[in-house]
Amino acid sequence: MTRRTFFDRIFAAIFGGTGLAFVGSALAYLYPNKNFISGTRQFSNMAGQPILEKEIGEGQFKSGVALGSPAIVYRQNGELIALSAVCTHLGCTVSHLAEEQIFRCPCHGGEYDLDGSVLDGPPPRPLPRLNVKVENGRILLS
Ligand code: FES
Repeated sequence: MTRRTFFDRIFAAIFGGTGLAFVGSALAYLYPNKNFISGTRQFSNMAGQPILEKEIGEGQFKSGVALGSPAIVYRQNGELIALSAVCTHLGCTVSHLAEEQIFRCPCHGGEYDLDGSVLDGPPPRPLPRLNVKVENGRILLS
């Protein structure tokens, strides 16, 4: 092996590895975050206290978590509806804006309607709807 060949291979290894790392980082950035932890979890406030079914009246929205993943539960026509509050763009937590009756993501301005459908901005998919079950007054999400 000549000296030139040796250095060509060294440079190719260094810059090839850097290029792969760059491409991998770019793809990881574009790939959306995980939206919700699977399984059935209790809907709780940030202190871990359960948010009870009776605490959510008609038209009321409650933000909370289910095993560390943010979720929003609201009541419409008597039915509890739950959505993941994790934006489908890059995983920020969306908030309910009562006046506009939408969910908005603070990171890049993504907006969703109350069904979780995308209204505006970069989110590629609707907010995932979660299954709701009530047991002994406690709300369970899956
Ligand atoms: S993370 Fe929500 S719009 Fe980008």
